[in-house]
Amino acid sequence: MILPHFSVALFALSVLRVGALDTFISAVYEHAVILPNRTETAVSKGEALLLMNKNIDVLEKAIKLAARRGAQIIVTPEDGIYGWDFTRETIYPYLEDIPDPEVNWIPCRDPKRFGYNPVQERLSCLAKDNSIYVMANIGDKKSCNTSDPQCPPDGHYQYNTNVVFDSQGRLVARYHKYNLFEPEIQFDFPKDSETVTFDTPFGKFGIFTCFDIFSYDPAVLVVDEFQVDSVLFPTAWYNTLPLLSAVPFHSAWARAMRVNLLAANTHNTSMHMTGSGIYSPEGVMVYHYDMETESGQLLLSELKSRPRSGPTYPVTVDWSAYAKSVMPPSSKQSDFMGRIYFDEFTFIELKKNTGEYTVCQKTLCCHLTYKMSEKRRDEVYVLGVFDGLHTVEGQYYLQICTLLKCQTTDPSTCGEPVGSAFTKFEEFSLSGTFGTSYVFPQIILSGSQLAPERHYEVLRDGRLKSRNGVPLPVLVMALYGRVFEKDPPRLGQGPWKLQ
Ligand SMILES: *[C@@H]1O[C@H](CO)[C@@H](O)[C@H](O)[C@H]1NC(C)=O
Ligand SMILES: *[C@@H]1O[C@H](CO)[C@@H](O)[C@H](O)[C@H]1NC(C)=O
Ligand SMILES: *[C@@H]1O[C@H](CO)[C@@H](O)[C@H](O)[C@H]1NC(C)=O
Repeated sequence: MILPHFSVALFALSVLRVGALDTFISAVYEHAVILPNRTETAVSKGEALLLMNKNIDVLEKAIKLAARRGAQIIVTPEDGIYGWDFTRETIYPYLEDIPDPEVNWIPCRDPKRFGYNPVQERLSCLAKDNSIYVMANIGDKKSCNTSDPQCPPDGHYQYNTNVVFDSQGRLVARYHKYNLFEPEIQFDFPKDSETVTFDTPFGKFGIFTCFDIFSYDPAVLVVDEFQVDSVLFPTAWYNTLPLLSAVPFHSAWARAMRVNLLAANTHNTSMHMTGSGIYSPEGVMVYHYDMETESGQLLLSELKSRPRSGPTYPVTVDWSAYAKSVMPPSSKQSDFMGRIYFDEFTFIELKKNTGEYTVCQKTLCCHLTYKMSEKRRDEVYVLGVFDGLHTVEGQYYLQICTLLKCQTTDPSTCGEPVGSAFTKFEEFSLSGTFGTSYVFPQIILSGSQLAPERHYEVLRDGRLKSRNGVPLPVLVMALYGRVFEKDPPRLGQGPWKLQ
């Protein structure tokens, strides 16, 4: 009696095994969006579709190439099909009504089932005909009326939306961006957050968009609570040195959250939009940063389907362990105030070629030991600390420790963007008494290059530390901490501002 049951169970297990893949090939496409001729006045639906099809023509080439090279999934950027700078009225002809994936719909097979949806139909066919999961960012519209007190006066909601079609062309995910960035006046904030995940033979996926990466809900939630293996991350990210450049920030997030992150940025050098990559918990697999050309770029990399179960999965870091053991600074040191991206930092200048400094603000103390090859007269470096609420273009609470090069030798320029550095750091160790376990470590070298990971490490006690004495031309290094408990209810402007 027992035996047959046993063999049935074994059979089921082996079937599961056959379907599941240990690794997969992921793709992201950095897309130079073809922008509409005008966005300040409305165009017809036909003109809107013409423009969207031009962009999808470019994406189609990338999708086909990715599939030919064996990719199972491809991510395309936020705003990648129609661009930006719209008003609520002028984006409208670009929107489609996107159903809940629960309806089990393959638009390529049954295009008229939910009305006229040419963009969803084309994306679904691209996925199906090339047997690849396709993620794209488009606009969703949902009609509403006076029975809903929050219904906008024009009778519908408009959402910044990610859609995913599986390799058979089926709509498997629809995510409405929850944390809109402040200039996104063309879209509505969804009433409630939604944590969107979907299962594939190569692991469990989560999805969110651009500014969401600063959030607890849904970004941290989808990783920590829903335990996804990989995250799809379309973005339209303009790089702002020193601390908010796409590749360093996104790769730091993947490393600290210990998850695969597939980040696809739009490409527009005059807007400083570039920087896409495929990042794993163990490190950067591939990235692209190009301020020289106006071309798109396809990136491919093999990833572990379930990185959490691998032997090299990184351990958790106790970010304050080391810094808590360091004595606070003497009261008579010559620190001064300065700004990084609107936040008031406390800085202290690195005076000699080797040294040790601690600088504090509110409850955060940052500690640095370092050795430069030579203390140059023409370059000034500071250790900086910030513990407070960031309030420009959204509100979110930060705790940051940073070592950076000032723009000039005038200390009032510390925190301003700077492109190159000649000073070389042979040794460094940066740590802080963080009150959060969400700290994103990044190092950027002269020329906005990402520091190769073989040259530094993050220790379990929270030190960001040099590894092998190779002199590095550091522009900026940072431990960028987020204290979610001190955030306001929404990072962007919430619906309360409409009332
Ligand atoms: C934008 O304008 C150019 C030049 O007038 C025209 O060739 C092109 O078709 C227009 N694009 C769209 C999407 O209407
Ligand atoms: C208003 O919207 C609700 C929910 O979408 C719908 O059930 C109802 O029929 C609508 N009423 C009118 C008058 O359109
Ligand atoms: C980049 O974006 C700006 C601002 O929207 C636009 O004026 C410019 O034409 C874009 N560049 C390219 C190459 O599309």
